[in-house]
Amino acid sequence: MLAQNNNFMNTQTTFMGLQIQSPIVIGSCGFTKETAKLKEIEQAGAGAIILKSIFEEQILNETSNNLRNQNYFASPEAYDYVSNYSKSNAVDKYINLIKDAKQIVNIPIIASINCISNDEWLNFASKIETAGADGIELNMFVLPSDVNLNAEDIERFYEDTIAIIRRAVNIPISIKLSYYFTSLARFVQKISLMGIANINIFNRFLKTDIDIDNIITKPANILTSQDEIYDTIRWTSILSNVVKCSLTAGGGVHKEEDCIKLLLAGANTVQIVSALYEQGLDFITKCNEKFLQWGEKNNFKSINDFRGKLAIKTNHPSDFLRVQFMKYFAEIK
Ligand SMILES: Cc1cc2nc3c(=O)[nH]c(=O)nc-3n(C[C@H](O)[C@H](O)[C@H](O)COP(=O)(O)O)c2cc1C
Repeated sequence: MLAQNNNFMNTQTTFMGLQIQSPIVIGSCGFTKETAKLKEIEQAGAGAIILKSIFEEQILNETSNNLRNQNYFASPEAYDYVSNYSKSNAVDKYINLIKDAKQIVNIPIIASINCISNDEWLNFASKIETAGADGIELNMFVLPSDVNLNAEDIERFYEDTIAIIRRAVNIPISIKLSYYFTSLARFVQKISLMGIANINIFNRFLKTDIDIDNIITKPANILTSQDEIYDTIRWTSILSNVVKCSLTAGGGVHKEEDCIKLLLAGANTVQIVSALYEQGLDFITKCNEKFLQWGEKNNFKSINDFRGKLAIKTNHPSDFLRVQFMKYFAEIK
């Protein structure tokens, strides 16, 4: 756990309206579905944990597997009964994960759901709240690949889902987004005014690669690379003054100082995942230590003393960024 010493900077901050001891949030991943790991993550000094997402397809898949295993159904009612039973069984497993997590750790536990359709999630979101989750993250993604959908159609899907879940639960809601939006800053600001507590940038998807020997597509590396931090820094510095709720930034945090950079760019909290797979849970402790040393060196007493110092403050960030670009290339001989 993060030791607070009077000489050191106070690392407390808020995440989704909840007081946390460190700005480091462990993002949804394989580690956060294992109860044994949750305790280790807390002991390493994380401020909060986002549980592994439960995916709509996962529930439907478990349900259809169970249905396939039945030889016959005497009546449609029997089919419905087994279908509903299987569905609730899959959901119950997730609910038990939330309950166990709440028993095991004291830091906030955020449940994560990946939505496609709205109906199933309403019921499920309420169950998550009843199970004791401190918040809920909607891990949402529409790949804008359908030529029949325009940008407004896609944005409306997000807005409708947020509005529905917002009405269904009283716990704080975080929205995890990708950067595939026509006007990201405008859209992020719009949804940040919809009564949500946090926006988490960015979602990451399985990247596609091609195997030229077997002439097939294959998944690319599942972990992020160090270079991805630069896009995250850019968007954090643009969006942090645009959002009207708290902002979690992540994607490409692989060095201890990356956490400091994202806070300087204006994030309220920093999300880490891939680095834990590569460097172990100790990475959380190292980030906290680096953070305290850097804070002491710069004589900062709290995160608010420096958070957002390097956020973009102009109303026209594209002008600002263009100027930076020209300055840089003009200097290259
Ligand atoms: C193994 C693995 C599993 C993940 N599973 C989920 C998931 O279930 N839900 C989700 O929202 N993000 C998931 N992610 C994405 C991470 O939460 C995070 O957004 C992404 O990895 C970028 O952060 P990083 O650079 O620190 O890895 C997963 C990432 C990894 C590497």
